[in-house]
Amino acid sequence: MLANAGRTARRALWQRQAARVLSTQAEAPRTKTFSIYRWNPDDGAQPKMQNYEIDLNQCGPMVLDALIKIKDTMDPSLTFRRSCREGICGSCSMNIEGTNTLACLCPISSAETKTHIYPLPHMYVLKDLVPDMSNFYEQHKQVQPFLQTKEGVDMTVENYQSKEDRAKLDGLYECVLCACCSTSCPSYWWNADKYLGPAVLLQSYRWLADSRDAKTSERLHFLDDAFKVYRCKTIMNCSKTCPKHLNPGKAIANIKLAMEANH
Ligand code: SF4
Ligand code: F3S
Ligand code: FES
Repeated sequence: MLANAGRTARRALWQRQAARVLSTQAEAPRTKTFSIYRWNPDDGAQPKMQNYEIDLNQCGPMVLDALIKIKDTMDPSLTFRRSCREGICGSCSMNIEGTNTLACLCPISSAETKTHIYPLPHMYVLKDLVPDMSNFYEQHKQVQPFLQTKEGVDMTVENYQSKEDRAKLDGLYECVLCACCSTSCPSYWWNADKYLGPAVLLQSYRWLADSRDAKTSERLHFLDDAFKVYRCKTIMNCSKTCPKHLNPGKAIANIKLAMEANH
């Protein structure tokens, strides 16, 4: 009985798949051109833009689907980062049609014009769409992005906070460290060696805002110089571009207020 049910379900699935293939074959191709930044440190050639044409009928709906299609079926040398395919890992950040975003959350435009794809701006490039994130991660490490409780708190059990205190972390903990915001910030473009940038500052504020953390004063003291925070000139590109709809500009404003109160 169960075996019969399994066979029927499988047959229905095959029929659906066959119908999908036949209907796809019948559809007129919807060709879209992707113009993608290419640079290989090993071949000595200058960077260039390379065009790839894809039939959108044969491709998933997101820009990351198109990149995977190109890599799988046309050009295995095309290099980009990706992992989760659903906006969680933060690795597929790149500049698509002039906007820093996550390729897996960015729908392919139905416009007939080319879609231009570059690596995140103002970063050193390792290859094609892969920027060097070393400085960004080093800055993240500097703000000690982990809970530091009072002496004697038992960390082997749950460390409660009120619902109100927990709510203060909303809009902060969701950050996936994609760096779209930092690499959209002109202050960060010019001073990435000294200014921490919106992503790392939002991460820093995530721990400043945590009622269980006991290092508020030390954290604020670390941030208190002319560059780490104060190079933010409230340009707000960061909040405009965040693909997770977070507001790093607001987090930085809150850090500035906390620094004033700490003086
Ligand atoms: Fe990415 Fe947004 Fe986090 Fe910036 S704040 S790193 S844009 S998720
Ligand atoms: Fe830059 Fe955002 Fe401040 S774009 S200047 S970090 S508000
Ligand atoms: Fe993980 Fe895009 S693949 S965020």
